[in-house]
Amino acid sequence: MVSFNPQQLARATLLSVALLQPLAQAANITEDSFFYGQSPPVYPSPPMPGSASWATAYAKAVALVSQMTLEEKANITVGYTPLTGCSGETGSVPRLNWPGLCLSDAGNGLRATDFVNGWPSGIHVGAAWNKNLAYQRGLHMGGEFKTKGVHVALGPVVGPLGRVAESGRNWEGISNDPYLCGALAAETVQGIQGAGVTTSVKHYIGNEQETNRNPDGDVASVSSNIDDKTLHELYLWPFADAVHAGAGSIMCSYNRLNNSYSCQNSKLLNGILKTELGFEGFVVSDWGAQHTGLDSALAGLDVVMPDSTYWGVNGGNLTIAVNNGSLASARVTDMATRLVASWYQMGQDIDFPEGGIGMPINYYTPHKPVYARDPSSQSVLLDGALEGHVLVKNVNNALPLKSPKLLSVFGYDAVAPQKFDVGGPTDIIAPWTFGAESLSYTPFISSEPAPQIAINGTIISGGGSGANAPAYISAPIDALKEQAYLDGTSLFWDFYDNDPIIDTSSDACLVFINAFATEGNDRLGLHDDYSDALIQNVAANCSNTIVTIHNAGIRLVEQWIDHPNITAVIFAHLPGQDSGRALVQLLYGVQSFSGKLPYTVAKNESDYTNAGKPSLPEGDYQLFPQEDFSEGVYIDYRDFDAKNITPRYEFGFGLTYTTFSYSDLTIEKLAGASTSYLPPAAETIIEGGIASLWDVIAQVTATITNTGSVDAAEIAQLYVGIPGGPVKQLRGFSKVDIPVGANVTVEFDLQRRDLSEWSVTDQSWVLQSGSYPIYVGASSRDLPLVGSLSI
Ligand SMILES: *[C@@H]1O[C@H](CO)[C@@H](O)[C@H](O)[C@H]1NC(C)=O
Ligand SMILES: *[C@@H]1O[C@H](CO)[C@@H](O)[C@H](O)[C@H]1NC(C)=O
Ligand SMILES: *[C@@H]1O[C@H](CO)[C@@H](O)[C@H](O)[C@H]1NC(C)=O
Ligand SMILES: *[C@@H]1O[C@H](CO)[C@@H](O)[C@H](O)[C@H]1NC(C)=O
Ligand SMILES: *[C@@H]1O[C@H](CO)[C@@H](O)[C@H](O)[C@H]1NC(C)=O
Ligand SMILES: *[C@@H]1O[C@H](CO)[C@@H](O)[C@H](O)[C@H]1NC(C)=O
Ligand SMILES: *[C@@H]1O[C@H](CO)[C@@H](O)[C@H](O)[C@H]1NC(C)=O
Ligand SMILES: *[C@@H]1O[C@H](CO)[C@@H](O)[C@H](O)[C@H]1NC(C)=O
Ligand SMILES: *[C@@H]1O[C@H](CO)[C@@H](O)[C@H](O)[C@H]1NC(C)=O
Ligand SMILES: *[C@@H]1O[C@H](CO)[C@@H](O)[C@H](O)[C@H]1NC(C)=O
Repeated sequence: MVSFNPQQLARATLLSVALLQPLAQAANITEDSFFYGQSPPVYPSPPMPGSASWATAYAKAVALVSQMTLEEKANITVGYTPLTGCSGETGSVPRLNWPGLCLSDAGNGLRATDFVNGWPSGIHVGAAWNKNLAYQRGLHMGGEFKTKGVHVALGPVVGPLGRVAESGRNWEGISNDPYLCGALAAETVQGIQGAGVTTSVKHYIGNEQETNRNPDGDVASVSSNIDDKTLHELYLWPFADAVHAGAGSIMCSYNRLNNSYSCQNSKLLNGILKTELGFEGFVVSDWGAQHTGLDSALAGLDVVMPDSTYWGVNGGNLTIAVNNGSLASARVTDMATRLVASWYQMGQDIDFPEGGIGMPINYYTPHKPVYARDPSSQSVLLDGALEGHVLVKNVNNALPLKSPKLLSVFGYDAVAPQKFDVGGPTDIIAPWTFGAESLSYTPFISSEPAPQIAINGTIISGGGSGANAPAYISAPIDALKEQAYLDGTSLFWDFYDNDPIIDTSSDACLVFINAFATEGNDRLGLHDDYSDALIQNVAANCSNTIVTIHNAGIRLVEQWIDHPNITAVIFAHLPGQDSGRALVQLLYGVQSFSGKLPYTVAKNESDYTNAGKPSLPEGDYQLFPQEDFSEGVYIDYRDFDAKNITPRYEFGFGLTYTTFSYSDLTIEKLAGASTSYLPPAAETIIEGGIASLWDVIAQVTATITNTGSVDAAEIAQLYVGIPGGPVKQLRGFSKVDIPVGANVTVEFDLQRRDLSEWSVTDQSWVLQSGSYPIYVGASSRDLPLVGSLSI
């Protein structure tokens, strides 16, 4: 065990006293000390458990690390300026031939290099609701990281979860529902790690807005103030899934949590992550997110990126701190052990390519090509692109298209961007410029014609570190031209004008717009006047107007959705490089649409939590911006349900080319399943938390019949009303292919975790006795099957 530091004890006691300071005395706060004690101190930092599936890797790591000197151990905890295109590189131990690790962006594909694929983004994975597809995407994407010698992929993203509708990184994450997000993140972790690459699941935690995410002059990072119950039931949930899936790394975030920086918050790192969730891997700082030296080491931070002035250029300050008695040497040993164990756990000690091979710092310098694109990834890329498209309106049999004679195509988003911008293929997706530092990106946000869109062409991902490097882009117009050739269709196009001339003989007018978002900036609105006007102008003169939106987050449609000439609307999200190819298969009915919304589309911004806006520095807190999560777990559909707000399109909604009926609900409580928990201290902790949380205690089945005339997939959803909580919460989903006229029985396993609530008093999950309403159906507001489970 790590010994407890006396100075830390004294400080911890002071903090507890400070907790009693009444907030009412606040007046233009200028000292950080005002906030001390808002996040409880939890020390010492628990050493790596090394249990269960990690036991072998742990033993090997202990053996190797025991041969390292204190200096060598400290050296591998800090980042060195990369000699390759890796986003970061840890120190190495040349004496023992330990290579050091290459860490690279990000969760939607390997970025800023060549010979890799541009995968669908997180939001697209969420819209597909397909567990196996999420796994396959992870596996194939992970293979590309491995071929380039990347040990750690900096993803997937499960935070932001999506509390702030305008948040600039929501598209990197999967869904603002923690269950959907967690289930698909777990598959992603298993897929990427199955390829031998560690996942660094990010951003832990509460990184729900980009505005003020980092200190800015005298202004500190925004503090996400989250109560214990909300943290557990909402924001921590998908992290627990990722840890349960074996994630080898967690990245701590830029923001503060209860006014303590996430990378030095002992309650978050030592307490929740390393004790409660039994986390085996290493905690790495987001790039530049470390703000203290000794305090972050004691709080549970293991590795600092991209370098550390606090721990010293070679971790030397850790060595000094051990030698002067303020840091237990066991803490440094634990940092090194967690890092080295991840390397063994992924099998990176055997035949792993040289770190960052084929990835020069500057992509334009001559370099040996390293081809990372596996031909077998083609179908996964295409399926991934197909399944994340969500059809929300389709009237007058507008879709599928049937060998049209004339198609008119409008909008800046129909065509691929015309050049590779500065910085390499990363930037093909949108106009970007690189800042002076390699880690500082400035999005090209032009107020003309609208700052919310990417005017220079179709988007296949959002911007920033979660962007990717497509091998090519199949833009909508490219694929439409191919189809026109096959069908003898004539095309008419104008990608430039906002009020285009329309050939009145058009069978249909396809309008392409986007809603762009990027790391570092929150969005400036959930719709824009320029694109809305374009759609309205086309619809005024074309009675069959079909709108496709490539949306990096929620996009409102209220300005035109009821227009009688707008016959079909598609949320196309961020499909990756096969965007156009996938869309055309859907438009022409080669495939049926099968995606559903992983968020709620409101009628008005004002319907969302805080009107969808980030918090700003204000009043007494202008030097310390505060983001109070006072709504608790009531975000998105939980909030719309509680306030009885009618959305435009509810969470879980999406059309196909057929119809389904639901019948035969069965609910069975499994015999022998214990409904009570032991006291927390007596529980077995596995990766992800209390072991029995994952016990299946009930099973629900339902039959779905394809009552239409087209083979298609349906996403059946199960919601539970946990007593005292939201009226319903997603706790199961199943995507199944159902041929015309056939029926399938879907089965949902309910784990103890799915029915439990977090008890602040017990500091544990509890399963209440009572009646739990169970709903099964096609969306969060189309739930024909209703029953109940008695506990
Ligand atoms: C609060 O203090 C800061 C720093 O001294 C100062 O810049 C700011 O104007 C003050 N604000 C108010 C409302 O007094
Ligand atoms: C944050 O503060 C809230 C309110 O006091 C408390 O419920 C919660 O446990 C704290 N969480 C952390 C991680 O500090
Ligand atoms: C620390 O890591 C760096 C970078 O990999 C390496 O060059 C150096 O030799 C290492 N120092 C020691 C003492 O092993
Ligand atoms: C850590 O070490 C560096 C030299 O590597 C030194 O400049 C810096 O002041 C030290 N920081 C702290 C917090 O001790
Ligand atoms: C021990 O060393 C660390 C790192 O340089 C420094 O921050 C700390 O103040 C030192 N403590 C003592 C008691 O000298
Ligand atoms: C992007 O679009 C703007 C506005 O139409 C135009 O001025 C600019 O030249 C375009 N940039 C590129 C690279 O096409
Ligand atoms: C389009 O519709 C508007 C308004 O109805 C009309 O003024 C305009 O002439 C039409 N344009 C074309 C090219 O038909
Ligand atoms: C629908 O389109 C037709 C042209 O095809 C036009 O005459 C009509 O005015 C449009 N309807 C509306 C409501 O704009
Ligand atoms: C949204 O709500 C605001 C404030 O209530 C209102 O001013 C605005 O007109 C609404 N927008 C729409 C599209 O209904
Ligand atoms: C499902 O299909 C089977 C076999 O075709 C049929 O016997 C059964 O009645 C169907 N069930 C429902 C609920 O449609």
